[in-house]
Amino acid sequence: MRKILSGKKWDKVLDWDFNKPEVKWFVGGKLNITENCIDRHLATRAKQTAIIWDPNDPHSESQCLTYQQLHDQVCQVANMLKNQGVKKGDRVCIYMPMIPEVAYAMLACARIGAVHSTVFAGFSAGSLIDRINDAGCKIILTSDGSYRGEKKIDLKSIIDDAITKCPTIEKTIVFKHTGVRVSMKAGRDFWWHEQIEKASAHCEPEIMDAEDLLFILYTSGSTGKPKGMVHTIGGYMVFTAYTFQTVFQYQPGQVFWCTADVGWITGHSYILYGPLAAGATTVIFEGIPSWPDMGRFWHVAEKHRVNIFYTAPTAIRSLEKAPLSFVHQYDLQAIKILGTVGEPINEEAWHWYHEHIGRKKCPVVDTWWQTETGGIMISPIAHVTKLKPAFATLPLPGVQPAVMDESGKELATHGVEGRLTIKFPWPAMARTIYGDHQRFKDTYFSTFPGKYFTGDGCKRDDEGFYRITGRVDDIIIVSGHNMGTAEIESAIDEHSAVCETAVVGYPHDIKGQGIYAYVICYDTPHEEENLRSEIRDLVSKIIGPIAKPDKIQFVSGLPKTRSGKIMRRILRKVAEGEMHNLGDTSTLTDPTVVDEINTGAL
Ligand code: WTA
Repeated sequence: MRKILSGKKWDKVLDWDFNKPEVKWFVGGKLNITENCIDRHLATRAKQTAIIWDPNDPHSESQCLTYQQLHDQVCQVANMLKNQGVKKGDRVCIYMPMIPEVAYAMLACARIGAVHSTVFAGFSAGSLIDRINDAGCKIILTSDGSYRGEKKIDLKSIIDDAITKCPTIEKTIVFKHTGVRVSMKAGRDFWWHEQIEKASAHCEPEIMDAEDLLFILYTSGSTGKPKGMVHTIGGYMVFTAYTFQTVFQYQPGQVFWCTADVGWITGHSYILYGPLAAGATTVIFEGIPSWPDMGRFWHVAEKHRVNIFYTAPTAIRSLEKAPLSFVHQYDLQAIKILGTVGEPINEEAWHWYHEHIGRKKCPVVDTWWQTETGGIMISPIAHVTKLKPAFATLPLPGVQPAVMDESGKELATHGVEGRLTIKFPWPAMARTIYGDHQRFKDTYFSTFPGKYFTGDGCKRDDEGFYRITGRVDDIIIVSGHNMGTAEIESAIDEHSAVCETAVVGYPHDIKGQGIYAYVICYDTPHEEENLRSEIRDLVSKIIGPIAKPDKIQFVSGLPKTRSGKIMRRILRKVAEGEMHNLGDTSTLTDPTVVDEINTGAL
């Protein structure tokens, strides 16, 4: 007999006050999440596959790891971290590609009570520096490089750039993956394969409080630097497991594939913690949907007989543009349930997905949630909830949304449109912003006192079904990635020729939203195209390629109110191509700039 879990039952289920705000779930409960996600399954599932890894190169072998193997690997990495001096409560930055080791690394942190801060490996040095310093990370786990289709990216050299500006970092551990030459600084940089040899495959789990930190994950804000959302162990575990099983109606033995990167919340909750807590088989895919051709997703789905497939509307929109032969050459009969996440899905994409991938038989669950919510909040339950294309439909049992008008009044009936708030706590909600509780309060609990404000607009139709209409703040969602316009603006402003910038989103066929930048230069630019590409390169270097503006319009002024505020409404309209519908411009200091902007619109 294996020993039972080493935790302790909670004394109280919930303590909460949205005014402070303070939320505690499972007060007094003790546990280790890895015991629940791994050890607990060993009695019955030691030989069941926990993780299927499909590498970037379709000709390389995929790997299947059983729960027993996952256990041993996680324990070994946990011991490797301990050997390097990582202790309970320390913050560990993980900057790795989509390989099994990234899962071991995150779970190993959880095993020893360290807090992981996983940074999407598509971010550049600047973004990395902000995140590492904000969390005060002690160590970085990374790899020499990563693959992206045909390209190789040198991750370690990005780390080398960043680390000089990260005073809290003592060490890095580098996993050899692409084999690219890297520079290793003696005493600071260590090879994973050398260190892991010295680590045993037995590691007692650290017993944690339900409200201890599990991880920090950064998400863009409408102003200022990204916010380090803090998630705690007990509630997050319960809610990701509950939502995973409920929404996808997961049945034992099924293969679940969430195509997100583990560097985003979707990867944390539905590649790792939710599925593993439920004893599922989860796919980690290293590749991209468009390489070597537009059939890659369907190839992988066929190969691993994927039963539940969860992706972003952006991916669907781009695959929808490819000939259907890319779909039809694969046998997708194993797929039973489809899901989407990250941005609104348009009806056309919904129908294409339902018809061509789901053979008109599989329910499509359009799941609405956020980094802050930790898990799915509003979504159909597969085979239970009536589907309505482009609607996230109904809140999951336990989730209590409230639609508010701008004056702060709750619109309590059906057939209304307003701002989406949540009026009662749920277990996986972020507890704070790391190191800045005041910002947490100001951002989420001040607009509508006593309620959590999501930043999203929504409609609730006559049947009570929810349709998320998009952000109502200065966050834009580009290919499913959240970006603060302020962050992009300050990156563009770093260019020596640039005096001032305003960035807005505009509708984009594939990405959902594109990035439109209005840029004022000190001198009228002569070589506009050159300057555009310099600006794009700069943004790519500071934030990452995902933040590169799609359109850059050089202007001599921006529409400002007399109090000096940029009227973004006007800039958005121009970017959307709605120049004739600008509304009231009488409060502008200089209405003539609007004509100029209109004439030069791209
Ligand atoms: C948007 C991703 C419409 C929304 C899990 C939210 C959605 C933001 C949907 C959070 C959906 C997410 N329909 N919009 N099904 N899902 N969003 O933090 O604007 O990366 O506030 O979390 O994505 O993005 P995040």
